[in-house]
Amino acid sequence: MATKWVTEKDEKGYYWPSDEMKKYANMADVDIFKKASQNPEEFWAEKAKENIHWFEPFSKAYEWNPPHFKWFIGGKTNASYNCLDRHVISGKGDKTAIIWVPEPTEEKAVKISYAELLEKVKKFSNILKKLGVKKGDRVGIYLPMIPEVQIAMLACARIGAIHSVCFSAFSGDSLKTRLIDSNAKVLITSDGYYRRGKPLNLKNNADIAVEGTSVEHVIVVKRAGVEVEMKEGRDHWFHELMEEASNECEAEKMDSEDYLFILYTSGTTGKPKGIVHETGGYLTQADLTCRWLFDLHEEDVFWCTADVGWITGHTYNCYGPLSVGATLLLFEGAPDYPDKDRWWKEIEEHKVTIFYTAPTAIRMFAQWGDSYVKKHDLSSLRLLGTVGEPIDEDAWMWFFETVGGSRCPIIDTWWQTETGAVMISELPGIGPFIPTVAGKPLPGVKAEIVDEGKNPVSGGEGGYLILKSPFSPGMLRTVYNDDEKYVKTYFTEYGPEIYFTGDGARWFDEENIRVTGRIDDVMKVAGHRLSTGEVENAIASHEKVSECAVVPKPHQIKGEVPVAFVVLKGVEPSDELKQELVAHVRKEIGPTAKPEEIYFVNDLPKTRSGKIMRRMLKSLLTNQPLGDATTLQNAETIKHLKEVTGYEG
Ligand code: PRX
Repeated sequence: MATKWVTEKDEKGYYWPSDEMKKYANMADVDIFKKASQNPEEFWAEKAKENIHWFEPFSKAYEWNPPHFKWFIGGKTNASYNCLDRHVISGKGDKTAIIWVPEPTEEKAVKISYAELLEKVKKFSNILKKLGVKKGDRVGIYLPMIPEVQIAMLACARIGAIHSVCFSAFSGDSLKTRLIDSNAKVLITSDGYYRRGKPLNLKNNADIAVEGTSVEHVIVVKRAGVEVEMKEGRDHWFHELMEEASNECEAEKMDSEDYLFILYTSGTTGKPKGIVHETGGYLTQADLTCRWLFDLHEEDVFWCTADVGWITGHTYNCYGPLSVGATLLLFEGAPDYPDKDRWWKEIEEHKVTIFYTAPTAIRMFAQWGDSYVKKHDLSSLRLLGTVGEPIDEDAWMWFFETVGGSRCPIIDTWWQTETGAVMISELPGIGPFIPTVAGKPLPGVKAEIVDEGKNPVSGGEGGYLILKSPFSPGMLRTVYNDDEKYVKTYFTEYGPEIYFTGDGARWFDEENIRVTGRIDDVMKVAGHRLSTGEVENAIASHEKVSECAVVPKPHQIKGEVPVAFVVLKGVEPSDELKQELVAHVRKEIGPTAKPEEIYFVNDLPKTRSGKIMRRMLKSLLTNQPLGDATTLQNAETIKHLKEVTGYEG
């Protein structure tokens, strides 16, 4: 019988770690929250010293000049060294760092040891150097889920270059915006990748993106064997460069506060912002959450299904697990290829112990039915995790019972691109695990729920989720090229001493938080972060569109989907035009952003000052009362909107 890591449900509907789990878990001390909150700066300093290798020690833990802060002042370290060298030096070179599972089933899984990964990273670091990349330069990465993505990230980190990864399903235009904003010197991409059995071309997108930017060199990994054009002098094959590269490359001694990476994410405006994470603090928190929250042990196989193009992939598909010297599984393909049991087959085959995914995926699998899961022996699993969006009780229970066999705790982890690592969750050795509830701020994290007047809310009341100083070490430092935006977005609503998350939340009981979702113009579509403004900009850039408004609508599987209200420039509405607009959004942003529905309307509801009332459109789509229409300059539009959409509001 497989070990039961969780108790039966108690009378309150909570699950708790079993005695076996408490004994096994890396952190099971219930007093840890109190200990850490008494002096969070000391707590983090201790963890940074314990878990991270410093070439030179830091003199002070935290420095604060609201709303700016620094961690581990004067400390020198390197993320690549911590993720690779130190494990090889301590004799773990033969341990598998990455199990790479290609999509085509005729290709075998590839195991890459820490020693092999280090050698490749050193070689690739030398290639970057040879192409003129220096400390502080920006490097774009536009790769599918292949090990070269970790190689590229860790090579940048090794030489002190700042990487900016762009999700490979984003369009060439989206990549271009990122390359321009970060002023990247080099781009690393691939010829293509496999998706549902088909080799897709990625290089064409990269070519579109690079044109007219500061990118001098494009390094291309040969993955899918698709025909690509290589531009003389600019484009280089990864494998050819690797053949000649030297495998000696010392890790650069980076200041703790030197930037590690930029990751662009959607905010409330149409333009994605470059979230900046630095070296020492980010790594400390990525590392600690892997030890305590994902409870990584020597023998674990950790599978985080997030693409490396998102923060979850950065922290839990690269830096965190490699820093602790764990084995991570990297899967290239689609969850339903060649069949809908693909994920469960891989869990069985590679004896995955910790499995971390998004509620959207869970809802999708639940809908496909239990039989795909039941075909496989999932008794290797010990811990399940979710991230990216609120999880409903049905999805939680299905994940718990069908995938976890009612044996494994589920940790519902709340965090953001900005926070760098998980901030709110239950710890597996402490619990409780409550369906739909993320849990407690992790040790060393200060979170609260407040009302509009900054007063803490109590009981089951809803409010805004905020974070307080000392902001944990993994938090963003600024918005690249736009510190003003950093201040305005996160530290204006409640002043320079309170970080505003943009999320609504409520206390589920005295200790545990339920995160209810975004309260701004950010959508979570299948767990992917998108702003309504970005989709609006994309649609509005079409020549036949006069103006438009995009709002999220609840969706059974994806959580939310974008719906567009479009005013045309005197052309007749048609189904073809709808298709054209959908294709246009795919081209401008990528498939994740495509509107689920487009309504052609005569006018959009606007206030007297001309502001579009998106809130009303949102209410309309959910059949909620539309609120006070007297503030509108064009109240007559409401009747028209109801007719066009068929919703009553
Ligand atoms: O709304 C919250 C939601 O995802 C947002 C952050 O998105 P992103 O920066 O893309 O990072 C996602 C992965 C870390 C948050 O503002 N979110 C994230 N985790 C949860 C969540 N909502 C509810 N429960 C969660 N566990």
